[in-house]
Amino acid sequence: QKNTFVFHNGIEIPHIGFGTWQIPNDEVYEPVTVALKTGYRHIDTAAAYQNEENVGKAIKDFGLKREEVFITSKLRASIKGYESTLEEFEKTISKLGVDYLDLYLIHAPWPWEEKGKDCSEGNVQSWKAMEKLYNDGKIKAIGVSNFEISDLQPILDQCDIVPMANQIPFYIGRYQAQKELVDFCHEHNIVVEAYSPLATGELLNGKEITELAEKYDVTPAQICLRYCLEKNTLPLPKSTHEERIVENMQLDFTLSKEDVALLDAVKDVRQS
Ligand code: A2P
Repeated sequence: QKNTFVFHNGIEIPHIGFGTWQIPNDEVYEPVTVALKTGYRHIDTAAAYQNEENVGKAIKDFGLKREEVFITSKLRASIKGYESTLEEFEKTISKLGVDYLDLYLIHAPWPWEEKGKDCSEGNVQSWKAMEKLYNDGKIKAIGVSNFEISDLQPILDQCDIVPMANQIPFYIGRYQAQKELVDFCHEHNIVVEAYSPLATGELLNGKEITELAEKYDVTPAQICLRYCLEKNTLPLPKSTHEERIVENMQLDFTLSKEDVALLDAVKDVRQS
C-alpha cells in the first residue's frame, strides 16, 4: 500500500499524521516522542494550539534529520494580511525551532470569534504572503484549513498557486455533508486532510463501526482511520496514550466497497 499522498508540486506527505490539537504545551512532549518512536513521521500543530515550542523540542530531541520529519503548522485564523502573515510565520518557525516548514495552512477562512464572516480579501493577501514564503523555499507546501468551496474560490481566481491541501473535519458520518467539498478539492488536486477522524472519540461505540471492527479483527478507531484513507483523505488522529498512538498507525488492511458504502450512510453523531 502506498504510504504517502503527493501534492500537486510533487512533494510527498506521510499518509497518517499525528494530531496535537488540545494537547497543552506542557503535556505534548511525551506523546510526540512516543509518536516518533512508533514511526510517525508527520506531526500536525498550529500556532493556535499554543504547543509549538514543545512539539518542536520533542522533534529536535528525538534526533532525526530535519528532512525525515514532516511538520505542519497553521497561521492563526485572526491574521489576515500580507505583512502580518510573514511576521506570524517567523514566530511559528522560531517557536518550533526549525528553519523551514513542510506545510503551512491558513487555519480558517475567518477569525474563530467571527465565524462565517467574509474575509476573502484578507485571505487573498495572506495567501500571497504564503506564496512568497513558498517561493523563497521557507515552506515546502502551502494550503488552507476549514475552507469551503466559496472560501477557496477567491484564491483560485486571484492567486498563482493552487492550495496543496485543505484540512477539514472528516469522519464517518460526516461524509454526506463533506462530499461536495472533498470532490471539489480532489478535482483541483488539493489533498484533503481529515481532522477529528474519530469525531474526537465520539464515534467509537457506533453500531456499524463496532460490528465492522469485529469483522476485520481490528479496533473501532482503526475502522474510522482506514475509512478516511478509503475516501482518499489523510487522517490526523490525536491521542495521549501510547497503545492508542501505536494502534492508530496500524492501518494495513482495506475495507470492502460494500462496507465503505455502509459507513457512508452512517448518521453524523454530532448532528443527531
Ligand atoms: P486520548 O488522547 O485520551 O487517547 P480525534 O483524533 O478525532 O480528535 O479524536 C481524539 C480523541 O479520541 C481523543 O479523546 C483520544 O483520547 C481518543 N482516541 C484516540 N485514539 C484512540 C483509540 N485508538 N481508541 C480510543 N480512543 C482514541
